[in-house]
Amino acid sequence: PMPIIIDTDPGQDDALTYFLALASPEIELLGVTTVAGNVSLAQTTRNAIVALDVVGRADVPVCSGADRPLLRPLIDAAHVHGRTGFEGAVLPPPSRKPSSEHAVDFIIRTVMEREAGTVTLCAIGPMTNIALAITKEPALRSRLKQIVAMIGAFSEVGNITPSAEFNSYVDPHAAALVFEAGVPIVMAPLDITHQLHTSVARLHRLETLPNKTSQIVVDWLRFEKRFEAKKYGTDGGPLHDPNTVLWLLRPDLYRGRKVNVRIETGSELTMGASVIDWWGITDLPKNALVLREVDADAVYEVLTERLARLP
Ligand code: BDR
Ligand code: CA
Repeated sequence: PMPIIIDTDPGQDDALTYFLALASPEIELLGVTTVAGNVSLAQTTRNAIVALDVVGRADVPVCSGADRPLLRPLIDAAHVHGRTGFEGAVLPPPSRKPSSEHAVDFIIRTVMEREAGTVTLCAIGPMTNIALAITKEPALRSRLKQIVAMIGAFSEVGNITPSAEFNSYVDPHAAALVFEAGVPIVMAPLDITHQLHTSVARLHRLETLPNKTSQIVVDWLRFEKRFEAKKYGTDGGPLHDPNTVLWLLRPDLYRGRKVNVRIETGSELTMGASVIDWWGITDLPKNALVLREVDADAVYEVLTERLARLP
């Protein structure tokens, strides 16, 4: 199986990403590292443990990391995910404390211990931990297989400011550093996540699954949807973070282009914007595969089939 680490700020859609990984024999989830983002670090760490408890996986290490972005103050997304980040479902308190190892050290140790070029990092929160890890251990640049990230936006652009997606806006300096690190990146931007609406019909189908985990996912997505569907006027909200694991499982369901991507850090107006060289105007390296199209119905098939395997 493909060894992966998920770096995350849960958030309902973050938790669904671990569920898909844990339901998939093609993937080995080595650990979950938490970062401040949707809610505070204390809350994202708690949530990661609670989510793993839901699927009976208290054996997966959870390591807590950066409690704020590299340079900017933390902006959260409690307005989308609720005060706890997990609003929509009532869940028991966490069964354990996080590991004593810091997220950054866990990422470095795990990637350095494994064979070079084998570990994938799924980045589904602000990239603070990842930037810190690459800075502390520059060898990660060549040791990592790839970073598969839910980040950025380009056509109808931002969800937190008119020009930027949340993960890149919250820590643009970290994202800029990661995109320039020389690790191959697969980027699932809002342009993909907004093609995957959590429509009434799709949620209804999930709701008919008999397992407890699917019910929790439906409750969560309905909560998120309340805000997002209203904001975008669509049947359902976008589906963000699970695209990382779904791409690992079924890259054939996505289409994208290898291009150079940089992240804006200079201007307050466009802070965190994805600057994408679609036409090769610069000679900068093609550092990212930017996903642009997705077979939405097929993706929901996979998601539904995988969730059904869980407790
Ligand atoms: C991203 O922001 C967070 O609110 C979601 O969990 C996702 O990672 C979408 O912009
Ligand atoms: Ca997230």
